[in-house]
Amino acid sequence: MTNRLGSSNPNRIPKITKTKSKKINLDKEKDIKSLIKHALKAQSNSKSKYSNFAVGCSLLCEDGTIIYGTNIESAAYPSTLCAERVAIYSALSQGYSNFKAIAIVSDNAAKPCGSCRQIIYEYLGDIPIYISDSKGSKHSTHIIKDLLPYPFG
Ligand code: THU
Repeated sequence: MTNRLGSSNPNRIPKITKTKSKKINLDKEKDIKSLIKHALKAQSNSKSKYSNFAVGCSLLCEDGTIIYGTNIESAAYPSTLCAERVAIYSALSQGYSNFKAIAIVSDNAAKPCGSCRQIIYEYLGDIPIYISDSKGSKHSTHIIKDLLPYPFG
């Protein structure tokens, strides 16, 4: 598929917003890795030609559905939206409100920005936050209380 600007992404997977995976059991390392792999797929769809910093996110819903998010940048810079909020807003828009985990990937395993931390706090609660680099080989695990110690609201 070619977009308005003439670029196409050969890695684009069909039905990007919804992947059902009831089998993900987060007690197992391999299942965490699998959620991270979904985030890597989302990252491959990043629209980040201004920053050249691609972020991918996969949000595991209570029923096993995985919602993807990637950062979308705009020539009108402030219109850019982070991968985490793209995934969370999409999930909420589709009626999901209970979540089990979120995985976030970027080249340097960056932690979420302040705005995303606020939205994670408000809408995801105490779920594990897996953060990995773009190799997906090693990750760290966080909870929002540690990333946003004195939350608003
Ligand atoms: N970005 C995210 O997607 N998530 C974050 O938590 C931090 C920053 C994106 C926004 C922008 O497209 C690029 O990374 C550089 O800031």
